[in-house]
Amino acid sequence: MTTTGAKPAGAENEAEAAQSVRQMFDAIAPRYDLLNHLLSANVDRLWWRRTARRFKPVLGQPDAAILDICCGTGDMTMALLKHRPAGARPILAADFARGMLSRGARKFSGSRPGEAYAVPLEADALHLPLRSGSLDLIVTAFGFRNLANYEAGLREFNRVLKPGGQLGILDFSEPGGLLGKAYAVYFRRVLPAIGRLVCGKDGPYNYLPTSVGNFPPPAEMLKLMAASGYEQCGWQPYTFGIAGLYTAARAAVA
Ligand SMILES: C[S@@+](CC[C@H](N)C(=O)[O-])C[C@H]1O[C@@H](n2cnc3c(N)ncnc32)[C@H](O)[C@@H]1O
Repeated sequence: MTTTGAKPAGAENEAEAAQSVRQMFDAIAPRYDLLNHLLSANVDRLWWRRTARRFKPVLGQPDAAILDICCGTGDMTMALLKHRPAGARPILAADFARGMLSRGARKFSGSRPGEAYAVPLEADALHLPLRSGSLDLIVTAFGFRNLANYEAGLREFNRVLKPGGQLGILDFSEPGGLLGKAYAVYFRRVLPAIGRLVCGKDGPYNYLPTSVGNFPPPAEMLKLMAASGYEQCGWQPYTFGIAGLYTAARAAVA
């Protein structure tokens, strides 16, 4: 199976790809939330909530160890927190772009006594500073596609999950048929133009459609997950397949 990962323009290798992605997100961090909601007409909120609902049983366990990796400005984390009982173990919310993470931390670090909260962690998804077999759940929203090496990301998640621990990867997809064609026009032409206008920068919103085009389609991702030590691998399309949730569990015996 060929290894794939994000390939931002100009990056010659994985280290450069990761650096370019981190710099890009730091640069757009001040406008990220505004643009996200604008460009998705707020549908992103439904996707985060739906993803969180899917993991309600584990989120409901007060002692469950949970990581939101590539948490960015923290909206996925906030959706997960809604299902955490008062006084539950804090969620770990990690990202390698400090500009994104610091904005997230303002949202999810908690304020009221007893309220569930998350702890920010500046970390690279491909080299997590966490013990092997220590997590019950890893969730990542719109982050996995940006990793410099998808296979290495799946292996690293597998390492830190407990046997039977669950994984959820929410990301964009390319729908087929007529809708797919209309969406491609929006995604490749309209969205970069709006992004450029609001953000004042050219690169990031050109990168977005390219990165979605470069991301393995569901059948391939599912094969990659199964080959990386996961079982019960599945994909649930959201909003006609514009986005979708991959789910899997770390195989009990690797
Ligand atoms: C599109 S944003 C998504 C943020 C948030 N999860 C959301 O749903 O809005 C992608 C995030 O992934 C982070 N990211 C990309 N590659 C990463 C890596 N290797 N390690 C940690 N974070 C990474 C970026 O810094 C960025 O904040």
